[in-house]
Amino acid sequence: MNLILLGAPGAGKGTQATKIADRYGLVHISTGDIFRANIKNGTKIGLLAKSYIDKGELVPDEVTCEIVKDRLTWEDCKKGYLLDGFPRNTFQADYLDKCAKIDAVVNINIDFSLLMDRLCGRRVCKECGESYHVSTLGGKTDCARCGGELYQRKDDNPETVKSRLDVYEAQTAPLIDYYTKKGLILNFTGTEAPAEVLFEEIKAKLDELK
Ligand code: AP5
Ligand code: MG
Repeated sequence: MNLILLGAPGAGKGTQATKIADRYGLVHISTGDIFRANIKNGTKIGLLAKSYIDKGELVPDEVTCEIVKDRLTWEDCKKGYLLDGFPRNTFQADYLDKCAKIDAVVNINIDFSLLMDRLCGRRVCKECGESYHVSTLGGKTDCARCGGELYQRKDDNPETVKSRLDVYEAQTAPLIDYYTKKGLILNFTGTEAPAEVLFEEIKAKLDELK
């Protein structure tokens, strides 16, 4: 099964991706994580990506598409994959059409008013990638899951979040229509449900597909 996860910044794509990938034995491919790993390792791609990510803009299509195309040729993708954060505009979606067969698009709809607080309060584990919100940490700075150090993503600040949300509305939201027309969309609401409840809803729909 090959899936796409669609949703605004902070909608809960990464949170659901880990659960979906575990449940269905899929490879989790997050373009954001790939860029952040490149930034950490100081690669050429990382340097380029950083200049866009820090402003909340999209990394150029030719770079992003090439990375994804290559990643999809890896042996592990044969068991199925979950794309988190790709495609993000119609150019990328058309490109993906030519190199992949997608079975469904999981779209997480969310009330925008929640996102600023969710993102600016997010803390992420450097080791395992688990996300937390400062309001539930009680001052702790290490990960409850693996003990790793928690950090704040550089793009999780009010100015950059505003720009990421604008980019989502202008460029990514049209993909909901794009995939609805292809009959691939599965819609969910990420606004109120805790992550576990939302996952149960997603699982019920994906089980039907299998
Ligand atoms: P990316 O890393 O993909 O970031 P994003 O799309 O902005 O989304 P986030 O990772 O911030 O949020 P999420 O939806 O994963 O939410 P999460 O589960 O963490 O991209 C970063 C940048 O890289 C882009 O801005 C762009 O520059 C570049 N990039 C990436 N892909 C690209 C592409 N294809 N083309 C060009 N450029 C690209 O949850 C958020 C918070 O909410 C967490 O604290 C979590 O604990 C909490 N939470 C989650 N679910 C719930 C729930 N149900 N209830 C309450 N809280 C919840
Ligand atoms: Mg994410």
